[in-house]
Amino acid sequence: MTLIDNNSPIGVFDSGIGGLTVVKHLRDLLPHEDIVYFGDTARLPYGTKSEDVVKRFAFEDSHFLLEHGVKIIVVACNTVGSTAIHLLEEHLDIPVIGVMQPGADASVNKTKNKKIGVIGTSTTIRSEKYKQRIFELDNSINVVDQACPLFVPLVEEGFFEDEATHLIAKRYLEKFIENHVDTLILGCTHYPMIKNTLQRILGEDVVMVDSGEETAKVVKRYLESNNLFSSKSIKSGLKIYVSDLSHKFQEIAERFLQNSLSHIETIDFEQFLLEKGKDFRDHINKILIKDI
Ligand code: DGL
Repeated sequence: MTLIDNNSPIGVFDSGIGGLTVVKHLRDLLPHEDIVYFGDTARLPYGTKSEDVVKRFAFEDSHFLLEHGVKIIVVACNTVGSTAIHLLEEHLDIPVIGVMQPGADASVNKTKNKKIGVIGTSTTIRSEKYKQRIFELDNSINVVDQACPLFVPLVEEGFFEDEATHLIAKRYLEKFIENHVDTLILGCTHYPMIKNTLQRILGEDVVMVDSGEETAKVVKRYLESNNLFSSKSIKSGLKIYVSDLSHKFQEIAERFLQNSLSHIETIDFEQFLLEKGKDFRDHINKILIKDI
């Protein structure tokens, strides 16, 4: 591992705006930590793409953050978490924390009737990583899951409490009502933005597990136990980079973070990759071939 500077920022990435739900919790819990965020909006969604493509994107996004000198990478994307986290952990030189394990662990602590629901993108649900982690902790739990591919575009459009979102959510959530789940994992970082709509359909008694909230706690514990807290006493800075800036991004991001954003920059990601060059591409190819 490279020598880490405590005052370096925390790096966070997602395919789009969803990872900001994790940033919100990180900022609440760790107000003196600077954060650099990358949302790969030009290539969103990740959740419908093949595993190989998602793995490649995961390395490219991570390297963008590494160039900003981050001290730790938070993978604020369940889709990447379910396909590539092991590769990032193995091949990056700094610590990597994903959102899946904290969410799964919290759900096992919260369920009373041992019936847990999981929603996520198609890739996340197909990977069965949430199920596997829950069974590792308690194999008597009944896990019901459902891919909800239409949620991500609704969130990116800012349709948090819209009638269309309500109708689609009703279809997706039917089986959780039929199976009496008492705990639902929001297995995609976009979903906390439509939590109210989901809660209205499932009823107040169903506990929603926001993986981002649980992940922020894990990041805090990690920084603490490795003496990696920033020594800054001023409120942290947040820099957001996106690979495509839609006209709605800033408005939706500010609504969610409840803060005005001064630094949002669009980067030409294709150019970034071109500049990284052939050696970088070959390096990723080698890792991917070995992982088959
Ligand atoms: N927010 C991401 C996740 O947690 C992925 C959304 C997407 O790009 O499909 O899975």
